[in-house]
Amino acid sequence: MRNQDVTKTLTSTLAPEAMEALHDLGKIADGRGVGAFVVGGVVRDALMKRPCEDLDIVVEDDAIDFAEAAARELEGHVKKHRRFGTAILVLGRAVKVDIATSRSESYARPGALPDVAPDPIELDLKRRDFTLNAMAVRINADRFGELLDPVGGRADLKTGVLRVLHKHSFEDDPTRVLRCVRFSARFSFKLDPLTEKLLQDAVEHDLISTVSGERIMNEIRLILSEDEIWLPLKQLDSLGVLPSIHPNWHLPENAPSLFSKLPAIMKSPIGSIRSATLWHTRFLAAVSALSISDAGALLNRLRSGATLRNLIDELARFEVTARGRLESENELSRSDLYDALAPLSPETLAVVLASAGSIASGRVTLYLSELESVRPILGGSDLIRLGLEEGTHLGEVLADLRRACLDGFVTSKTEELEFVRRAIRDLDVENKR
Ligand code: CTP
Repeated sequence: MRNQDVTKTLTSTLAPEAMEALHDLGKIADGRGVGAFVVGGVVRDALMKRPCEDLDIVVEDDAIDFAEAAARELEGHVKKHRRFGTAILVLGRAVKVDIATSRSESYARPGALPDVAPDPIELDLKRRDFTLNAMAVRINADRFGELLDPVGGRADLKTGVLRVLHKHSFEDDPTRVLRCVRFSARFSFKLDPLTEKLLQDAVEHDLISTVSGERIMNEIRLILSEDEIWLPLKQLDSLGVLPSIHPNWHLPENAPSLFSKLPAIMKSPIGSIRSATLWHTRFLAAVSALSISDAGALLNRLRSGATLRNLIDELARFEVTARGRLESENELSRSDLYDALAPLSPETLAVVLASAGSIASGRVTLYLSELESVRPILGGSDLIRLGLEEGTHLGEVLADLRRACLDGFVTSKTEELEFVRRAIRDLDVENKR
């Protein structure tokens, strides 16, 4: 591909400010007498005509020194990662550039973080995961747009094939098992036969067990942040990747229906579901068949914090205490419905809605569209003014008042005042007994 055609392609997929940054960084590299390249996903996405936001740059230079020089010249900010010898350069409001030193990598053992050594760009490309991610475009001014494609990435892009660069790729970095599933699903690419065999071997040899929980979790988060997640999740399950993370991790039996309903729920959310974190919701759905103790062990393995744990606990509690009532044909008052769903976070509500039968689905929708925002006119301070002291009783009277509002027993401020005064009288009587 001619340099100007590559440049044209990059221009059509990158924001103008990002394109400008590439030219500026190329000139800075020239001033330092070093090679500079845009690499990986940016090149892949440009050749696929897919828009791309973040820039990955590799320099045949010390990345941190380079980033600092660039920040001085272009009035940007640098975030340094000394441990990895990389830097993030932020230019203006819209451009974020990841800068790394061109390097080769070797692995002491599967799953370990790599030992790195500075090396020319060709070797840097050859340490990468898949051919489609192993391309670079030079950004030095006089050769701007020169495509480097040492392992046939462009040919694989054309034929829709995902291929590792060598037979030890998954051993070097077992997170590539998860990346493989993610990229093949995202682009609807097939695996080349050897890559498929190596992938299966990697799962059979349980290479995932050598990877730290944080790194696995990061890959799971990336998969769960893709547009389409049903296909990769199904593949992870059928390949045995989920059980290699925790032996009892399988998708729930209702997964096909659950994951077919979730997208619409998350795309046009109602009520508090609007504030649900998408990947947390999907994670909760994906682990919804695990027992509480298995889910806890899985989260320990993934070094996950309290947020997901709380969601899992909430859903489990809901299943035991409220699911039956919600699905049943028996009448359920609006206040009982409120009480069953009010403890649930937005993510849990989304999963409950996606897994609900027709009766429960109508009820959850009623809750989200109407009941959850019902508030009495009187608040805590009004109740104190009416003579209640702060504490348990006040909370109880407020909750009762809300229930009365929900069920239509009180419909005006006067009726609310009457309700509260009666509750206070009843409490007084009780206290005197
Ligand atoms: N890479 C790799 N092996 C990994 C992770 C990353 O070889 N385990 C390389 C690939 O060349 C990849 C690049 O580092 O293209 C950047 O990685 P990342 O930002 O994770 O991926 P992108 O390709 O940019 O993909 P995405 O579109 O998902 O951001």
